[in-house]
Amino acid sequence: MNPWAIRSFWLAAILLMSAGWAQQRVNVLCSPDLAWCEALVPAFRQATGIELRFVRLSSGEALARLRAEAQRPQFDVWFGGTGDPHLIAFREGLTEFYRPRAWNDLREDLRQAVGETYIPLYTGAIGFVVNTQVLQRRGLPEPKRWTDLADPRYKGLIAMPDPNTSGTGYTILATLIQIYGEEQAFRLLAQIHRNIAQYTRSGSAPGQLAGRGDVAIAVQFAHDGVKFAQEGFPLKVYFPLEGTGYEIGGLSLIKGAPNREAAIRFIEWALTPEAQSIAAKVGSLQIQSNKKTPIPPNSPRLASITLIKYDFAKFGSSEVRDRVVGRWTKEIFPQPR
Ligand code: G6P
Repeated sequence: MNPWAIRSFWLAAILLMSAGWAQQRVNVLCSPDLAWCEALVPAFRQATGIELRFVRLSSGEALARLRAEAQRPQFDVWFGGTGDPHLIAFREGLTEFYRPRAWNDLREDLRQAVGETYIPLYTGAIGFVVNTQVLQRRGLPEPKRWTDLADPRYKGLIAMPDPNTSGTGYTILATLIQIYGEEQAFRLLAQIHRNIAQYTRSGSAPGQLAGRGDVAIAVQFAHDGVKFAQEGFPLKVYFPLEGTGYEIGGLSLIKGAPNREAAIRFIEWALTPEAQSIAAKVGSLQIQSNKKTPIPPNSPRLASITLIKYDFAKFGSSEVRDRVVGRWTKEIFPQPR
């Protein structure tokens, strides 16, 4: 080949490669707050040149979507959301375990708790997010215990997420069952139900209602409450004295991902301290899984909270989740308020 032909050959090859690269795309099922999902798009494009598209669905809805698409997966990666449904998805063969390069940099307690099922992305605990102004106006005390939520003086003043759609809602249900046993937990849930103004679809929505003063008490992840307080809402965060449950938020590779190579590049990137630091910049204050990611100063520290010994294996099983959520939907939700 003459030199001109060789040059043309390489030029064509480079153009073809870059065209292929530019077309690379990853489809992400994204379960944390929308602002975090949105911030991933330009940051990932800048880091890799790969286009990221996402759909934001709460954890329970995301699991339902993956189940529905099992024969023909549309998503490549499931980013964030509570861990129980990630574990269920793994056990149902909807996701596969991928061991990222950063595996040994991830917090050991989180890795040990989930085993090689899904990748821990962050952690955070459930709390009471309280609008102190609403309570003061009505001369009501702050709730200190789970059982306080059943106090009839709080009628119409509490919001919590629906455990069908929201992973946060399921974590709350699982927490109460672990503290009180199933029968007593359901009796307590029936009493709390009379005080509920609204069950929300997503986990962080109750705090928005409390922030606006539509309700006084939101039951949800404490870090979401700190986020709203940081945004200027008159909210305080409390942890129930009996102890509380927590999440190990997940990151999973979808089995049969249409863009597997881009999915793996996304997973590797998402676990870097640089990528994990995006969360705090948009107000998501979970403790990130990589030990090298700085913990934001106002993130609730798990070491200072009374945590229950959350049974991830039990509550991350389809059988238990389907049964207790089904029971809540049949026995609690339809009762008059
Ligand atoms: C919020 C929290 C996350 C949690 C997520 C679950 O975004 O900040 O820590 O994982 O809710 O969402 P869901 O809507 O499923 O309760």
